[in-house]
Amino acid sequence: VTTQTTTVALLGGTGDLGEGLALRWGRDTDHELLVGSRDPDRAAAAADGYAAALADRGHDASLAGLDNAAAAARASVAVLAVPPYHVGDTVAAVADGLDAGDVLVSPAAGMTRDGDGFHAHRPGAGSVTRVAADAAPDGVPVVGAFHNLPAGRLADLDADLGIDTLLVADDDDARETVRALAAGIEGLRPLAAGPIANAPEIEGLTPLLINVAANADGLHDLGVRFR
Ligand SMILES: NC(=O)c1ccc[n+]([C@@H]2O[C@H](COP(=O)([O-])OP(=O)(O)OC[C@H]3O[C@@H](n4cnc5c(N)ncnc54)[C@H](OP(=O)(O)O)[C@@H]3O)[C@@H](O)[C@H]2O)c1
Repeated sequence: VTTQTTTVALLGGTGDLGEGLALRWGRDTDHELLVGSRDPDRAAAAADGYAAALADRGHDASLAGLDNAAAAARASVAVLAVPPYHVGDTVAAVADGLDAGDVLVSPAAGMTRDGDGFHAHRPGAGSVTRVAADAAPDGVPVVGAFHNLPAGRLADLDADLGIDTLLVADDDDARETVRALAAGIEGLRPLAAGPIANAPEIEGLTPLLINVAANADGLHDLGVRFR
């Protein structure tokens, strides 16, 4: 268990990635976790559910549910765990509560799906991480992270991770903040992959992982380990 605690908002934390990160941080760290939603009742119900799942395993996690804006206002780090096409709107919805030095984390990957599988779908800005950075208020750095994590495996606390997450950032302090948060999850290794300009390649890995999982027998909830 880490000793330094951070208040982390999971915007859209009612969804699959938010659940996985909440359960992992709730089990492996002492961070104060704020589950965000567009609907505060949905947030509270999700936070209660995650807390109950952790309590069943003997972990007393700090979890509360709030609307996204309130969660972001109370947190020093906010993860944009919302669909890729709503990242810009979500940043705008919470921007008033962000203070200079707060950090936004973008895990979203734009994808399309057809009969063959999933395909990378880059926004005009080049990456969803860049969309988040363009929407962020001045003084609020964005870090791209968690794009390639399998939410189902995160949420299965019996599963070992043994995987990497790639970080892209233009701000060294913000990258270090998110590196430390990621390293707090047992079995997850954060690796720096350069500035936000390198986000498209990372976001493009996500549909590849889904396509491999759909086609390779016996593999599901895939992550990547670089070695
Ligand atoms: N699932 C994965 O394995 C995984 C892995 C890595 C990265 N990601 C990325 O992480 C992000 C979240 O993935 P997810 O699978 O957790 O998604 P999800 O379950 O489909 O959605 C997450 C949450 O987003 C909120 N949301 C839905 N529509 C919205 C809108 N129009 N505006 C604002 N919020 C909205 C919902 O929360 P409320 O209705 O409660 O507001 C929902 O619970 C995505 O961008 C995805 O690319 C996912």
